[in-house]
Amino acid sequence: MNTITIILSTARDNNFTSRIADIVRAHVAGKGFDVQFVDIKDFLFGKTMTLADNPKEVALWAEIVAKSDGVIFVAPEYNHTYPGELKILLDSLTQEYAGKPAGIVSVSAGDYAGVRMVDALKILLHTLGFRLANRSVNVGNVQTDINEGRITKHLNTVLEEMKDLQK
Ligand SMILES: Cc1cc2nc3c(=O)[nH]c(=O)nc-3n(C[C@H](O)[C@H](O)[C@H](O)COP(=O)(O)O)c2cc1C
Repeated sequence: MNTITIILSTARDNNFTSRIADIVRAHVAGKGFDVQFVDIKDFLFGKTMTLADNPKEVALWAEIVAKSDGVIFVAPEYNHTYPGELKILLDSLTQEYAGKPAGIVSVSAGDYAGVRMVDALKILLHTLGFRLANRSVNVGNVQTDINEGRITKHLNTVLEEMKDLQK
């Protein structure tokens, strides 16, 4: 696994998830992986689009996916699920994701640390053909309590699983 794509999965203004995505990005790069960082605010299609519609934004996303040996989603929990903009982005492709290892980092303001979002996102990623790491990184109380050591420790276990999942 050489190239890992990290997706900051919310475009909400002043979101806290970007702080966690920055920690994830620095840690993954520090472990020697090539990192492609996607800030979803640069991929806001505004409506469902696929490659069949032939928009250049989807073609660019397809290029990023093609170059990815693995994908880490850093996503907040919104109403017990993942942000709508992530659904629209992921829906734009299908077989391009097949067999790619994926990991999830959940973020929330509360004690449950986004675990309901993890379950919802796992269903979508499984449907799209990703190979999912069983464990995830779960960051709760993000507005008051970011524990970088804990995040990177759990991220290491996810990265190990992703390596094992690679074809
Ligand atoms: C539309 C919306 C829905 C939310 N729903 C939840 C939720 O279901 N569970 C939760 O723990 N936090 C929820 N939150 C709070 C987020 O966890 C909080 O905003 C946190 O900072 C992570 O999101 P952010 O990256 O947008 O800041 C919600 C926030 C928004 C904006």
